[in-house]
Amino acid sequence: MWGEATPLSKTVSKALVREQKTIGPMVKSLIIEAPEIAKAAIPGQFVHLRVNDTIAPLLRRPISIAGADREAGTLTLVYRIVGQGTAMLAKLQAGDMVDCMGPLGTGFDLDCERPLLVGGGMGLAPLLCLAQALCPKPVTVLMGGRNREELFWQELFAEACRHTHITTDDGSLGRQGLTLDLLPELLAGGQFDRVIACGPKPMLAGAAKLAVEQKIGCQVSLEDYMACGVGACLSCTCAGTDGKRRKVCTDGPVFWAGEVFSL
Ligand code: FES
Repeated sequence: MWGEATPLSKTVSKALVREQKTIGPMVKSLIIEAPEIAKAAIPGQFVHLRVNDTIAPLLRRPISIAGADREAGTLTLVYRIVGQGTAMLAKLQAGDMVDCMGPLGTGFDLDCERPLLVGGGMGLAPLLCLAQALCPKPVTVLMGGRNREELFWQELFAEACRHTHITTDDGSLGRQGLTLDLLPELLAGGQFDRVIACGPKPMLAGAAKLAVEQKIGCQVSLEDYMACGVGACLSCTCAGTDGKRRKVCTDGPVFWAGEVFSL
C-alpha cells in the first residue's frame, strides 16, 4: 500500500549502503537503508544524496527513487555517472554511509486502471517504481534508448509489466526509431486510460499531445537541474501554462501535462 507524502514527511538521515552494482553503461543501482523515507515515498519522488559533508562537491545530487521496499526499509536508486558528484557516489560500497534527504517532490497519481508508461533513458528510473506500485494492474511500458546496451531496463520491468514495447535509435533492439514513432500506434488501440511519461522534454511534449488527441489523461515527470531540492534556490523553475513559474523540485517533478505544456 503506497501512502501520500506530505512536505512534512521529509527526512534527512545517514543511510547505510547495502549494495551498489553496475547495471548498464555508466549506470549504477544503489540500495540504501532509509526506513523512514522508504515508508513515506510514493513513485515519482526523489531523494537528494550527499556523499561527503566536508569535501567538495558540497551540493546534493537529486536521484529518482526506482524502488522502495517498506518491509526491508530500503530504497533502490538508479543513476547515471555524469559528473564529479555522481562519480563520488559510484565509489560507495556496501557498509559505507551516505547522507540522504527525502522523499522530495510530487509523486504520480496512481488512480488509473490501464496505464501506458513511456520512458526514455534515465527517465525509466521513476517509472520502474511506478510499475511496481501499480502491479498487478495491467501495466504496459514503452521504452526507448540509443541501442540494445541502454535497454538493460527491459529485465528490470519484466516482473511488473504485462507488455513491453521497445524502440532503439539504431534498431539493435525492438523497433528502430523513437518512442514517439511507436506511440500513436499503441494509443490507437484504445486500451489505455492514462499515459505517464518521463524522459527528454521533446518526448514528454509529444507524448502529452498524442495522449490529449486520444482524450487520455497524461502525467509527465520533468528532469531539470536542481541545487537545493526544497524550493529555496529557484534553480529549477519552468514556465507553467497559466503564466506562473513552477519549481520542478517542489511543485513537480510530476505534473499533469496541461500544467506545463500547451496542448
Ligand atoms: Fe532549488 Fe528547486 S532546486 S528551488
